[in-house]
Amino acid sequence: MTQDELKRAVAQAAIAYVVENEIVGVGTGSTANFFIDELAKMKHKIKAAVASSEATAQRLRDHGITVLDLNEVTSMPVYIDGADEITPQGAMIKGGGAALTREKIVASVADQFVCIADGSKLVDQLGKFPLPVEVIPMSHAVVTRKLNALGGEARLRLKDGKPLLTDNGNMILDVYDLQIADPVALEATINNIVGVVTVGLFAQQGANVCLLGTAEGVKTLK
Ligand code: A5P
Repeated sequence: MTQDELKRAVAQAAIAYVVENEIVGVGTGSTANFFIDELAKMKHKIKAAVASSEATAQRLRDHGITVLDLNEVTSMPVYIDGADEITPQGAMIKGGGAALTREKIVASVADQFVCIADGSKLVDQLGKFPLPVEVIPMSHAVVTRKLNALGGEARLRLKDGKPLLTDNGNMILDVYDLQIADPVALEATINNIVGVVTVGLFAQQGANVCLLGTAEGVKTLK
């Protein structure tokens, strides 16, 4: 199976976690896009969606799915999104698509985080994928020094030769070579650096369920 076929398979499996007549939180990225396309097939059975990025909101609307502002929503049963890395315990690195802040906010409102990923994303220890950190633009140099002091090598993410700006108007530092033995502790440490908006470690609140696409079929980790 190709990677796209694995992503489509987990996106289809995730539909079983969507609660009818309720609001569903929707992530960002190529796997989430497959999920949106599957969700469109049952759009009349859900109340609405909340999006974790402008790109996701656009794709949902293109399919005729109502997108609500999170401020209009007090609860949602499930948030469904991909990951860049995930451990068997459900800790994740996210933010390869630069949507980590809105992803973490929407996920925080959901009762359950269902991660959908192809099997290559499963790791014993996080950190091979560079850790994204969203920062206030005026702080990127000082935050870089502080992240480097933790043992990593932070690099400003660029797009077309200029700093990439997130949907929130902030910048992303990608931190290479971190040994993430304790994701919960590192998430807290980086959250405490002034100038950091969001760290792409989802460990304090990780995935409740992971649907993993493998050649043998979709595996469910809980
Ligand atoms: C977006 O910012 C990310 O958190 C994505 O969820 C993550 O990068 C996974 O993306 P893919 O599904 O494209 O691999």
